[in-house]
Amino acid sequence: MSKTADWRAALRALPGTLREGVPLAPYTTFRLGGPAELLFEPATAEACAEALRLAKGAGVAVHVLGGGTNTLVADAGVRGLVILLSAKPFTGIEFVDDGVRAGAGASLPKLVQEAARRGYGGFAELAGIPGSAGGAVAMNAGGRYGETKDVVRAVTLLDGDGMLKTVPRAGIPFGYRRSGLAGKVVLSVEFEKKRCDKEAALKMLEEAMGYKHATQPMAAHSAGCAFKNPPGQSAGKLIDEAGLKGARVGKAVISQIHGNFFVNEGGATAADMLALIDLARRTVKEKTGVELESEVQRWGFEGQPTQ
Ligand code: EPU
Repeated sequence: MSKTADWRAALRALPGTLREGVPLAPYTTFRLGGPAELLFEPATAEACAEALRLAKGAGVAVHVLGGGTNTLVADAGVRGLVILLSAKPFTGIEFVDDGVRAGAGASLPKLVQEAARRGYGGFAELAGIPGSAGGAVAMNAGGRYGETKDVVRAVTLLDGDGMLKTVPRAGIPFGYRRSGLAGKVVLSVEFEKKRCDKEAALKMLEEAMGYKHATQPMAAHSAGCAFKNPPGQSAGKLIDEAGLKGARVGKAVISQIHGNFFVNEGGATAADMLALIDLARRTVKEKTGVELESEVQRWGFEGQPTQ
């Protein structure tokens, strides 16, 4: 048996579901892009760890799919192994006295809403952020009211060698839209509860959701903001002021509601989206001198010019 067949056979034998050539578009909020060569949904943390070790041994690239909210998959798809933490051990949310324990695959919006309803402070600030708890930690997702790191107590993860570790917040180099956890797989998160009463939490939830609905195309197929904000500035405002709202490449269009939202109107390709992102980056650079940095993770574009 060849080495490739060998490692695939070993992967197939692990507890979980392994599928080949799985279209990833339905798993991303952009709703575009090609298939995963291999998509593995491990049934246990140990199966996930073993999959990482097998992939490493075979020299195969690994991508971890969270809620697919910040992911642009190339039209040709992504080679190697994509891991999705969709099985039961990874999707639970447990409310305890001093915080919340969530699997990496748990829905962040569900966690945030339920936390506010129970009067757990510190979560409503993340209202309206889509995706999974693990993805929110990996990206340090946030907005004007707060960031994920503000409520993280500790993260349990697998490192690149499949070793299980629990890292306290102080050990995670969080920054604006970054956690420094690239190359690791977040399995679960311990969040801390901030002091707050139920009414205040619900008020905060309402305010944050209201702001999002008033200023963002919430129902559109986008990746949220396409660019990080440059220090002290809003990328959306810069794109807006550059006159780019409504600009399009094929079926990819810049939202009229918020300039940092790049929307798949239906039928956009990854190439369209990438070209539109590049158009905005170049135009803003020409007009203002500001270099925008993409917030969207690109999968399968290896060997192609990125920006
Ligand atoms: N603005 C414009 N035109 C636009 C967009 C914004 O003039 O097209 C102005 C607004 O009027 C406001 C300022 O720019 O005066 C800032 O806009 P906004 O409050 O919408 O915030 P933002 O900086 O554009 C950030 C986050 C969002 C988050 C919102 C609200 C980033 C890159 N964006 O946007 O996060 O939802 O605050 O909390 O940090 C995301 O990261 O995916 C994301 C959507």
